[in-house]
Amino acid sequence: MTSRTTKKSTAKKRTSAVRKAQTSKRATPAKRQAVAKNGGGSAPLLMVNGLSTYFDITGGFLSRTLARVHAVEDISFEVGRGETLALVGESGCGKSTTGRTLIGLEKPVAGSIKYENQELVGLKNEALKPMRRTMQMIFQDPYSSLNPRMTAGASIGEPMRVHGVVPKADVPECVVELLKKVGLGAEHYDRYPHEFSGGQRQRLCIARALGVQPRMIVADEAVSALDVTIQAQVINLMMDLQSELGLSYLFISHDMAVVERISHRVAVMYLGRIVEIGPRRAVFESPQHSYTRKLLAAVPIADPSVRRKKRKLMADEIPSAARPLGYVPKKLEFRQVAKDHLVAIED
Ligand SMILES: Nc1ncnc2c1ncn2[C@@H]1O[C@H](COP(=O)(O)OP(=O)(O)OP(=O)(O)O)[C@@H](O)[C@H]1O
Ligand SMILES: [Mg+2]
Repeated sequence: MTSRTTKKSTAKKRTSAVRKAQTSKRATPAKRQAVAKNGGGSAPLLMVNGLSTYFDITGGFLSRTLARVHAVEDISFEVGRGETLALVGESGCGKSTTGRTLIGLEKPVAGSIKYENQELVGLKNEALKPMRRTMQMIFQDPYSSLNPRMTAGASIGEPMRVHGVVPKADVPECVVELLKKVGLGAEHYDRYPHEFSGGQRQRLCIARALGVQPRMIVADEAVSALDVTIQAQVINLMMDLQSELGLSYLFISHDMAVVERISHRVAVMYLGRIVEIGPRRAVFESPQHSYTRKLLAAVPIADPSVRRKKRKLMADEIPSAARPLGYVPKKLEFRQVAKDHLVAIED
């Protein structure tokens, strides 16, 4: 077969896939809640217990370890099937490190990560591979997550081939279906990342993550770089995909307005620790920890220059997470203020 006929048949496959692809129906918040409650019925998809991740600070002639950044300190939380847990907090509080530890990019110094009832901490790379497939991460900067020399189609198809999700011959057809699912089309298949807008690139990243049929997506500031309208579109897309596919999200963000829109539950991080966790309404309407209150107080300011000033002030208040060697962290005690709403007891 000549390469021209191969191209033709691939194009034909793509077109038929476009016809087959269904448009997703927007779910009402009530429907999303129902998914969150009934999605799996039993055990949560992800259970994190006492997780800590530190970074060594080295220096001197022999590059000795001088201190440690306690980026994540003894955190525990769960994410249910079809549920969105938002992880919020100011810059440097340990949100990304939490996400990176979950998907195996950082090694924890303590704690347990149970995913689909299997312990991930201590698993060797080979055993982790199938788990990694079903837990995907999407990042703030979609441009750097995509290979500039690969077409959209090739980028989306690559992880599907690597993980052998579908027979190789079916990958192009599935890629077109995915493009359609994220609001793009077969005409985008052969385009390169620079030919897309920021919002479209983030859609490509979502399609790439969806290709390996994940059950959980860790979205690290996934919409933070987008302007407000596009941000809303991508959030709607994520919510639609959640209702359609029963996905769970760990939604990492410093933007409380976005969090209020997308999350079912909210965990507030401060200096590597979760200081408050609860249902979205409880945290937004009845914040208990002084840090959560400060974080929320910075939200409804319309003037961006004032808002920036406020945020900076808050960030300045956060002390460093660097600790001397041998430092033994104090265990946080929690009190339950309402159903599923826990708050760290302050000194
Ligand atoms: N590879 C690393 N080596 C050393 N320190 C690190 C490393 N990665 C993160 N840190 C430190 O760990 C702490 C938590 O960083 P992290 O990136 O998790 O914060 P974040 O909450 O995601 O912040 P942002 O909102 O700015 O993305 C910070 O003090 C940071 O400087
Ligand atoms: Mg981060």
